[in-house]
Amino acid sequence: MLAFLIFAATFVVVLIIAVIYIYPKSSAKGTTVPGLSPTTTEDGNLADIRRAGSLHEFLMDLHQQFGPIASFWMGPQLVVSIASAELFKQHQNVFDRPPELFRLFEPLIGAKCIQYANGGDGRARRTAYDKSFSHEELKMYYPNLQKVTDGLVNKWSSMVKEEHIPLGQYMFAFSIKAALITLLGDCFENDKEILSFKTHYDLVWSEMEHRLADPTIPDDDSPRAKTFSESRKKVIDSVMKSVEHRKKHGSKSEEHLLIDRILDHHTDIDVGHSDCLTYLVGGFHTTGNLLTWAFYFLATHQDIQEKVFKEVIKVLGQDDTVEHHNLNDLKYLRQVIDETLRCAVVAPWAARFQDFDSELGGHKIPKNTPVIHALGVMLQDETVWPLPNKFDPDRLSTEQSKGRPSLAFSPFGFAGKRICPGYRFAYVETTMCLATLIRKFKVNLVEGQVVKPEFGLVTHPVDEIWITVSKRK
Ligand code: HEM
Repeated sequence: MLAFLIFAATFVVVLIIAVIYIYPKSSAKGTTVPGLSPTTTEDGNLADIRRAGSLHEFLMDLHQQFGPIASFWMGPQLVVSIASAELFKQHQNVFDRPPELFRLFEPLIGAKCIQYANGGDGRARRTAYDKSFSHEELKMYYPNLQKVTDGLVNKWSSMVKEEHIPLGQYMFAFSIKAALITLLGDCFENDKEILSFKTHYDLVWSEMEHRLADPTIPDDDSPRAKTFSESRKKVIDSVMKSVEHRKKHGSKSEEHLLIDRILDHHTDIDVGHSDCLTYLVGGFHTTGNLLTWAFYFLATHQDIQEKVFKEVIKVLGQDDTVEHHNLNDLKYLRQVIDETLRCAVVAPWAARFQDFDSELGGHKIPKNTPVIHALGVMLQDETVWPLPNKFDPDRLSTEQSKGRPSLAFSPFGFAGKRICPGYRFAYVETTMCLATLIRKFKVNLVEGQVVKPEFGLVTHPVDEIWITVSKRK
């Protein structure tokens, strides 16, 4: 009997050791998702993210190593990342966004803004504001977008031949004007004000992205913190001026813009301010960079630029403008825009969480675990996109897209009826800008530049890109 008890006790101990040995990570994580162990309990894998250069580049390596579902640690928090159309499908109905992954942007957009609004509140805001981006409402934006585009044509027309043009600066100014006038019904008084806004905005944004890779917050009285705080105030004040102007003077016509819907929806004016700022930033930062990358690819692929030019002439002739009824006829240009979104990975990731235990890809996901949608990893997956770094708009033609899962191309997110609200607006704005300018100008890259991307929450070139333009006959 004693021998049996000793055997039984030994067996149980060996079994426990075996389980702990075989599943050490799953017991610590509460999940069997393969992935990295934390380097330190406090830091998790933040040092690895810093070493990779950005979260997107870290995720590229992570998925290369562990496959389409993988885990890592952000400080003490377990995070799961997914990068396949099949896994995206399984997360397609999840609405709530994990606020902790986006906290760094809170000093700019405010804690109460839509970015952090989940559950009923988040859904109600989206329902109210999404009306501003319906097919019908978008028709209202064309004249103002055309006005801003014509302003850019005039500027480029006045350039002397071979003058070097700072592309990012021009695209930023264009997209901020376009977003302000169409969404908030106001515009900055002059280009000097826009440039000053951009300088401050760039400082704020680069500090926030810096904290994404290195969360150590500088002391309040350090020069870095002071610059951040002063620039942040300038950016917020500029936008609030537009909101206050609308509140005071209302709309000149019958038009009901996004700003009116936001202000109608909230009794708490701070929330209204924050949402206006979030939509404005969401609107100009992304499209400004999308346009910068699109012109860069067109300047470095003259054959593709000529193909776009020929299509524009065929569809619009010399004089017609981009309108609601002909936008979709510019099919090749749409492929160019989509291939730019893919190749430049303009918005590399989104994220969701669920406040209950769930399952994903056959793995248990503990409740409240942030799940990253690695949109950029998916857009660069060579099993779906052969030669992923090659800029090839033809791969997005209807014929070549046959058989490719639609979620493999999700540059605006895909989940929980919370994909980017401005995606149609972005297509209208960028199509109008590209079609109008390519019809009038041939765009060339100034030689001798090394153009490198910096992947943050939005991907931008490390340095300014310089181009020259020449008027087409
Ligand atoms: C190149 C253009 C753009 C890209 C690539 C882009 C990408 C994205 C992505 C990936 C998300 C996250 C979606 C998710 O969580 O599933 C998002 C959210 C958002 N975008 Fe965009 N976006 C673009 C243009 C715009 C424009 C033009 C606007 C405004 C007019 C805008 C406003 C927003 C807002 C407010 C959110 C957060 C919505 C929410 O919290 O429900 N974006 N965008």
